[in-house]
Amino acid sequence: MSIMLRDVLGTLDCSALAEGMADRRLIHRPGGCGIPPEALFSLEELEQLLLREGADSKDLRVTVNGRMANLEMLGVLKDGRLRPLVLRQLTRQGVSLIVNNLHRYLPKLWDLAGDAERLLRDRVVIGAIASFSKLPALPPHYDPEDLLIVQVEGSKTWRFFGEPADCGMANHEMVKPPADVSATVVMRPGDVLFVPSGLHHQCEAEGVSLHVGLLIKHATLLDLLRDLCREHPSLNRPIRPLLGREKVAERLAALKAELISHLDEADAASWLAEWNAPRARVTGLGLGGAPDPAPAEGIAALTVTMVPPGRPGRRWKVGGVEFKPGAGALAVVSALEAGPRTVRDLLDAAGREAGPDEARAGLDQLIGKGLVQIAPP
Ligand SMILES: [Fe+2]
Repeated sequence: MSIMLRDVLGTLDCSALAEGMADRRLIHRPGGCGIPPEALFSLEELEQLLLREGADSKDLRVTVNGRMANLEMLGVLKDGRLRPLVLRQLTRQGVSLIVNNLHRYLPKLWDLAGDAERLLRDRVVIGAIASFSKLPALPPHYDPEDLLIVQVEGSKTWRFFGEPADCGMANHEMVKPPADVSATVVMRPGDVLFVPSGLHHQCEAEGVSLHVGLLIKHATLLDLLRDLCREHPSLNRPIRPLLGREKVAERLAALKAELISHLDEADAASWLAEWNAPRARVTGLGLGGAPDPAPAEGIAALTVTMVPPGRPGRRWKVGGVEFKPGAGALAVVSALEAGPRTVRDLLDAAGREAGPDEARAGLDQLIGKGLVQIAPP
């Protein structure tokens, strides 16, 4: 089942959201979610993801009373593998789990992230925080992204401090956390909350609690500068102090002049369109219907080098995930070994080996695991 942003936001439409973004103010819609919140993501799915399917450990954080714990020291990770029993024990002791990039693991959330990018014309990633006690998952902080939060299970009190700082960077040292509580919101299952970036907050769960967050990452000037430096290697000429003050001054002046000229020439609007919503470009194909993460003309490629198991159904650990690929997934991997190809071509080749339905299911499975990426044609 695909989930669309409108399903999630219910009564909170894009124009109300845009107003909240423009005014940088909180929006709380009690019971506003347009679908049963557990259809979005549930504790059972989290358990399944962590304990059976295996998420990339880089996307998992365990926090103890607001502090990030070292997964290896806690024994949650051993030799790069998650240890479910240790994790279960820790949740009983009241730790919190933060899962980033959730859209990489669940096709329905991948669809949701893509749909959100198309509607919001921005980059969107999805994460979740599960708490198992009243201890906070994180210390008071602000996020550089605008947040759309849906409370799925349990209740959670959000305390906000001061006014939002207009800063699209995480942990900017010049942005100090204000002391005064400027707002308090109690989130219950089905509630939707918009939190503008830069607004300091801290959450306290009643007990077991799960919320899902769509993080809307806006481009900043730093992103443009990074891309310019990538595009023009000469902007990255080194500055060598040992050559003397004069040479350093010359080099700095030349770099500055060059940067200004590149900035002048840059078509910032096109850059922004390109930078934003990498998944949203797929809609330009006009295929109609539900957004398809693998349209026929998209270019499919393996994201990591892999040596698949010899036969289907065998447990396979690759690219930080562990799962049992079916015949379709194996056929897709072998069809991609020689290099990227269009989805249509890939499904033809893999379909001849494993059958068309198996090949399609295998491709979806590999996309869901982040092992195959589809680039726009
Ligand atoms: Fe946050």
